[in-house]
Amino acid sequence: MENLKKKVEVLRESFREALGSVRGLEELEKLRVRYLGRKGEITLLFKLLKELDPNERREAGALLNTLKEEVQEALNLKKEELKKARGREKVDLTLPGREYSLGGLHPLTAVLEEMIEIFVGLGFKVEEGPEIEWDFYNFEALNIPPHHPARDMWSTLFITEKMMLRTHTSPVQVRVMEREKPPLRFISPGRVYRKDAFDASHSPAFYQLEGLYVDKKVTFSDLKGTLELFARELFGSNTRVKFVPSYFPFTEPSAEMSVNWGKGWLELVGCGMVHPAVFNAVGLDPDEWTGYAFGVGVDRVAMIKLGIDDIRLFYENDLRFLRRYLR
Ligand code: PHE
Repeated sequence: MENLKKKVEVLRESFREALGSVRGLEELEKLRVRYLGRKGEITLLFKLLKELDPNERREAGALLNTLKEEVQEALNLKKEELKKARGREKVDLTLPGREYSLGGLHPLTAVLEEMIEIFVGLGFKVEEGPEIEWDFYNFEALNIPPHHPARDMWSTLFITEKMMLRTHTSPVQVRVMEREKPPLRFISPGRVYRKDAFDASHSPAFYQLEGLYVDKKVTFSDLKGTLELFARELFGSNTRVKFVPSYFPFTEPSAEMSVNWGKGWLELVGCGMVHPAVFNAVGLDPDEWTGYAFGVGVDRVAMIKLGIDDIRLFYENDLRFLRRYLR
């Protein structure tokens, strides 16, 4: 009997310790089996009862029953506790979803894409050229030889004597004509660079959209008609356009197209008929081929369309500005 009492005490103590270190429901079930299972430690003690004489048996039985109930209750409590803890880790489906920030097009890109769409609709392909360009493409092949004063029209950022950041998208004209036989009809949008200080109307990097059409018997009327259509698509059907004589070494005759959509005239496009010297530079016979070319200032168009009077807004990446034009 004394022996049994001691065993009960030892079991009670070892159970309490084991219970304290239980971390999950599986461990708890293992513990239950170890003490209350068919071959569990408490179960085995009950089997010893037979060996006691009958008057001791009653007391011992009561002792064991108390232990069993204690253990059972402690196991139940722990189970509840563990279940609650697990519930707390569950996903709360009533929480609002996590917000994804998808971003959007930069206002300049959006306007540029609109312009591209218009020309693509008129049958123009889209070509690209490098932003770091050879003197040959940026100047020489465009009828601007070294030391020619016409170079002053483009304040150039040189990398080496023969290499520069392109000052306009016109070199793409040369690259494509070198590579492909006419008829050709493409636009070439892209970034260009000039050694200009940043102010409200100048940026050292800005965008142009070049256009070139080469075929037999292309006339100045074709150029006028196309650009006029472009302006009306872009600014509305009441838009008026005006062609003023101008000078570019790679077109002859040359002109600037100004646009008036009700707020005065604004110069937007340089253009003209492809100069014979350019055809010669790319190995095309100027007696056989004719063409027109134009270059549109994309930033200017965007400024007008968005009603902005400072070009720097496009390049400062101020989110307060950019968000206003998110679509
Ligand atoms: N490349 C000229 C410029 O940057 C614009 C232009 C393009 C003029 C094509 C005529 C023909 O000013």
